[in-house]
Amino acid sequence: MSIRVRFIIVIGILSIVASMALAYASYQFSVKNAMDNAKKQGAVVFNMLDSSRLFFKREQWPLVTELVEDDRFYPQIMSGFVMTRGVWQIFEKRFPGYSFKQASLDPLYPSNKADLDEQKMIEVFNSDKSLKNREGLMEKEGQQYYYFAKPVSVEEKCLRCHGDHEEAPKDQVEIYGTESGYNWPKGQVISTSIVYVPIDKAMAAAKKSATTLFAMGTGGILVLMGFIWIFLSSTVVKPLKELERKATQISLGQELGKDMGVEGNDEIGALTNAIDRLRISTVKLLERCTGRMG
Ligand code: HEC
Repeated sequence: MSIRVRFIIVIGILSIVASMALAYASYQFSVKNAMDNAKKQGAVVFNMLDSSRLFFKREQWPLVTELVEDDRFYPQIMSGFVMTRGVWQIFEKRFPGYSFKQASLDPLYPSNKADLDEQKMIEVFNSDKSLKNREGLMEKEGQQYYYFAKPVSVEEKCLRCHGDHEEAPKDQVEIYGTESGYNWPKGQVISTSIVYVPIDKAMAAAKKSATTLFAMGTGGILVLMGFIWIFLSSTVVKPLKELERKATQISLGQELGKDMGVEGNDEIGALTNAIDRLRISTVKLLERCTGRMG
């Protein structure tokens, strides 16, 4: 195998490995970025809703209970969960893509029913009460999501509406019925507030940028190898072949009187010079021999 081919193969393999490593690093970096972004967005959405519910609980609820007659119940102004659901429905229209749910095992409002993943999440929260929140990746209907979830536990004061339905506000029973949402177990986690941020697009973009980088890297390497090939041909291979031809001629006793014409002061120039000196010495040696013989 010629030096040129060997050189090109080694450079080629090293460059492809480097370009693959670069593409992989870029992929990892983009994925991490996508995750960080999703986390931030999830936290913003979640905390916004949580804060509005907290405001309701601290500021509005005490006033509302004072103003509204006993036993009357207007969900829109008397339940923090109705309020966040309403806020979310408006937000969702303006900012599609995210999703938020007050996923519950036994909800008053049927759409709040937890699916299998959410049921498992509630189980985990129940088995470890010290868990303040959970986050991670989840696949739903073929889509990948980052999720952030917090547990919701049943306290004594919740049982006024979520306890025995006989004791619940009549209006509430009228609106929601008595099918579910009652007799919640005190102290247990019954629900999880969960926000989903889709990350499919970001993941696809990460893959695309990594493959583009790899394709561009490989293209660049091919062009570079072309240039190296041409450069090696004109500066190394061609002069060496010429030198080989001349050295063969000398060994055959031909072109002994012809100056080799040393060009350049690089290694090949030096080698040409050395072979030319060899030619001159050979000529002198031959002259001495023939002189002595004559
Ligand atoms: C004044 C009555 C009332 C009280 C007190 C109350 N809730 Fe509710 N809660 C409701 C109503 C009504 C809904 C239905 C929400 C909707 O329509 O989305 C609801 C919904 C929920 C939901 C969403 C799942 C579902 O059932 O639809 C959770 C979780 C929840 N409540 C937890 C609690 C907790 C925890 C407490 C106590 C800290 C509490 N609630 C106190 C009336 C009440």
